[in-house]
Amino acid sequence: MSESVDLGKLASIVEDVPTLPSVMFEVLAVAEDEKSTAGELEDVIMRDQALSAKVLKVANSAYYGIPRTVETVSRATVLLGFQTVVGLALTVSVYDTLWGAGKGNYLDRRELWKHSLGVATAARLLADTANRKEGAVAFTAGMLHDVGKTILDNFLPEEYSKVVELCQKDGIQMHEAELQILGATHADLGYKVARKWQLPDVLCESIHWHHNAAGADDEYRRSAALISLGDYLTRHAGIGEPLDVVQPELDPAALAIWGGSEADLENVAEELMNSRDKIEAFQT
Ligand SMILES: [Fe+2]
Ligand SMILES: [Fe+2]
Repeated sequence: MSESVDLGKLASIVEDVPTLPSVMFEVLAVAEDEKSTAGELEDVIMRDQALSAKVLKVANSAYYGIPRTVETVSRATVLLGFQTVVGLALTVSVYDTLWGAGKGNYLDRRELWKHSLGVATAARLLADTANRKEGAVAFTAGMLHDVGKTILDNFLPEEYSKVVELCQKDGIQMHEAELQILGATHADLGYKVARKWQLPDVLCESIHWHHNAAGADDEYRRSAALISLGDYLTRHAGIGEPLDVVQPELDPAALAIWGGSEADLENVAEELMNSRDKIEAFQT
């Protein structure tokens, strides 16, 4: 455990992170109730005009292949599915909340957003196409997997600068440098904040285990593996710059959990390259 930051300090950071806007609790409640209709979801989202507009903006950026621009939340729900629209609303709320909570220091938010959109897109490509919910969860978890980095950058800038320095000096992965300096990683911190926000278990667990999919409980392992592989593909495709200097290695455990071969992964890498320009062009 690190001597420079005690765990009590990390716990107090979790307390300092603002709660999500109340509309999100309504969105999550609608999402969790199996009897909910698409109309109920639209009603909740459309009551918040800024949220509706941003959801549509992300929907139009992330889902190439849609014949025309999606102009309404109800159209987005029909085309993309209920769970995807919930995920987009969640993504927009999370980043608005975190970015509104501080100016940020070392992390280029635009680059982190592009990285996250890349991972989300890749994870969705890796998901089972016959399982629409898995694709939506993979996309949302991809958008949120590195939230812990934004939290560290906002609330522990001094220590975070040491983490960035150590990565560069020793040529190690960011989560390894975080463990040395903070005694915990951005995945641990992101997990704790996701729990505080009462996000669905699968999102909390995917955030927690995105650098070690084999560590997750059985029911969340696949989702964590999709994020791990999505992260690998996105970094190697050069989409976004999440402040890490070292390219991640392919985690064989994540590949085995996914169930495809390295050649299958190559095919997904090619598909990801097709959406690279669109991701790079996206303005938050
Ligand atoms: Fe990460
Ligand atoms: Fe990442």
